[in-house]
Amino acid sequence: MSTTFNFDLKGRHFLSLIEFSGEEINYLIDLSAAFKQKKKQGVPHRICEGKNIALLFEKPSTRTRCAFTVAAIDLGMHPEYLGKNDIQFGKKESVRDTAIVLGRMFDGIQFRGFAHETVEGLAKDAGVPVWNGLTDLYHPTQILADFLTVKEQKGELAGIKFVYVGDGRNNMGNTLLIGGAKVGMDMRICAPKSLWPSDEIVNYAKSVAIETGAVITLTESIEEAMDQADVVYTDVWVSMGEEAAFAERIELLRPYQVNMDMLQKSGNPDIMFLHCLPAFHDLETEVGRAIHEQYGLIEMEVTDEVFRSRHSFVFDEAENRMHTIKAVMAATLTETREWLDR
Ligand code: CP
Ligand code: NVA
Repeated sequence: MSTTFNFDLKGRHFLSLIEFSGEEINYLIDLSAAFKQKKKQGVPHRICEGKNIALLFEKPSTRTRCAFTVAAIDLGMHPEYLGKNDIQFGKKESVRDTAIVLGRMFDGIQFRGFAHETVEGLAKDAGVPVWNGLTDLYHPTQILADFLTVKEQKGELAGIKFVYVGDGRNNMGNTLLIGGAKVGMDMRICAPKSLWPSDEIVNYAKSVAIETGAVITLTESIEEAMDQADVVYTDVWVSMGEEAAFAERIELLRPYQVNMDMLQKSGNPDIMFLHCLPAFHDLETEVGRAIHEQYGLIEMEVTDEVFRSRHSFVFDEAENRMHTIKAVMAATLTETREWLDR
């Protein structure tokens, strides 16, 4: 039996979750799960055969780059990586001209970088779908992977008590707040007030919540946020491009480190821990060691104990980047409705 959908994703951009309804977000998550199953079963799904996509990166990436690359090849496409020093973009050529040129050659464009206006500019002039692989403001493909991971463990999204703790005003805090509102979660941002999302984003999420039954809470209190929580999520204290803020962030966010004490405050023995990664949970990185030397910290936003515990689903979440990005590309480039019914 085929399912009826009241929307069309083909030809759309994927810039933020603002442009997508809860129904569309849930569709993309279910489509990701369907592709994941096909991949595990070894069933080919080269439904974008012959297409070419450009992967434009101003900032570094492990997961997003690899996810777009592998997903594109699984779908039968050719991905072309364009690093910030490989092309004229921004130096000798404007966003508009680059968008037009790439749009004449490629069937879709991924952008990761700084200003959200850049990805919007590409979308305006490319004439092909543009996908946001992270900007300073939003990281929407990440949220699909996060929510797929929650759905795999908890079976649903609506009503899930989801705590995001740490830098509430970064791309992750902003996008989780909007995504949680869209799918009807009990979404709690737990951060010092100076790191809460902007009023514009909070008011938008609250207006969506009225329609979807979501609950939106912003609090500085760990006890209030963690009460009965199903999921606790954190991100780095200092995002790419903000490195000058380390001293101030450590001061502000040290009390908000995710540790076993914090997990126990939920009263939920099966609380999940998620993190978009990369994470500072030990001294196995150059930056981690430099911070240790300067500030004495051996772990930052999450303890190694939580990161490696049975609560942690961070590597399922990382794998799910690939399945969800595959769904976003397939749904915006071709017809995918039948894939849910196969
Ligand atoms: N989570 C995430 O976007 O990872 P990368 O920066 O490695 O792509
Ligand atoms: N907030 C982080 C997310 C990394 C995936 C950053 O922008 O660096």
